[in-house]
Amino acid sequence: MKKLGIVGWRGMVGSVLVGRMLEQNDFEGIDTTLFTTSQTGQVAPEFAGKGKTLKDANDIQALAEMDIIITCQGGDYTNAVHQKLRDSGWDGYWIDAASTLRMEKDSVIILDPVNRDVIDRALAEGKKDFIGGNCTVSLMMLGIGGILANDWVEWISPMTYQAASGAGAKNMRELLTQMGQLENRVHTLLEDPASNILDIDRQVTQTLHNGLDIANFGVPLAGSLIPWIDKALESGQSKEEWKAQVEANKIMQRQDNPILIDGLCVRIGAMRSHAQALTIKLKKDIPLSDIESAIAEHNEWVKVIPNDREASMHELTPAAVSGTLTVPVGRLRKLNMGGEYLTAFTVGDQLLWGAAEPLRRMLNILVG
Ligand code: HSE
Repeated sequence: MKKLGIVGWRGMVGSVLVGRMLEQNDFEGIDTTLFTTSQTGQVAPEFAGKGKTLKDANDIQALAEMDIIITCQGGDYTNAVHQKLRDSGWDGYWIDAASTLRMEKDSVIILDPVNRDVIDRALAEGKKDFIGGNCTVSLMMLGIGGILANDWVEWISPMTYQAASGAGAKNMRELLTQMGQLENRVHTLLEDPASNILDIDRQVTQTLHNGLDIANFGVPLAGSLIPWIDKALESGQSKEEWKAQVEANKIMQRQDNPILIDGLCVRIGAMRSHAQALTIKLKKDIPLSDIESAIAEHNEWVKVIPNDREASMHELTPAAVSGTLTVPVGRLRKLNMGGEYLTAFTVGDQLLWGAAEPLRRMLNILVG
């Protein structure tokens, strides 16, 4: 029986991961150990098996007893532990949600519906570090996997609409707090149908300027947006924007012949589903019906949404997909610029396909 260690199982991504593993009976036939950074020796939750205790996540010897480690503990933990563990001679599989090791030469970015061939080749070559991709990149690639697999794409410009969850659990709470604070300020005026909308708006604007909790985002997100995600790079891109091209091409192992990908990443007031509007330059004028079929047939989670108002409003939104594995792709049409210019809009759950799901699927490839 393979020995699996999980670190960071109590955090937001870790909890979603464990939830999915329970739903899919992934713990059956695996000897699971839960690691902790703060509660060593305490009784472990039963999903790990009866009578287990929590082990110290910084105990290299205890970690080295595992065949496979999945970590959702974050980049600082990966930095502190991964190299030490490898230096100790550990030869097991490291599956990681954090970005720290993604671009390392010996790491593989895992998104098996898109790159199962790359994963299988890496396993055959003896690679051991398998890292989850950036959420927007993974969700984009699942959505348009069909046209990528056909090599129809010259370049892509994704403009993202990213949910609060991508910034963390505290940020999700802050978004809701801000929403409440805005409503609270004008509650009485809202209840009076005769009140003046510009009076309401004036008070909302005052609150946006000077009345919201902003400890985590630094500025209002509710009633506003934030056109910058992650650090600044010298190129003028944010780090989130930089990831699109480098990670997507690494996922497909086509760094030598990269698809150019660049756009703007924007945080909006959605809870846990990221959306993105894509402008895609095709290598040639492919009929829209061929594009729709290629997208629909690529994987079992993608769903082509007809380019009409009703379907787009009801099926192509963060509210519609949150908590599901469905990745709808819609607003598919050729742009005025010509038959080689395609637009698309896609949405996906940032915590499921964007983070936890590729990890548990990699585990199943290893133990399956
Ligand atoms: N960097 C992403 C975001 C989440 O801020 O939305 C992690 O992939």
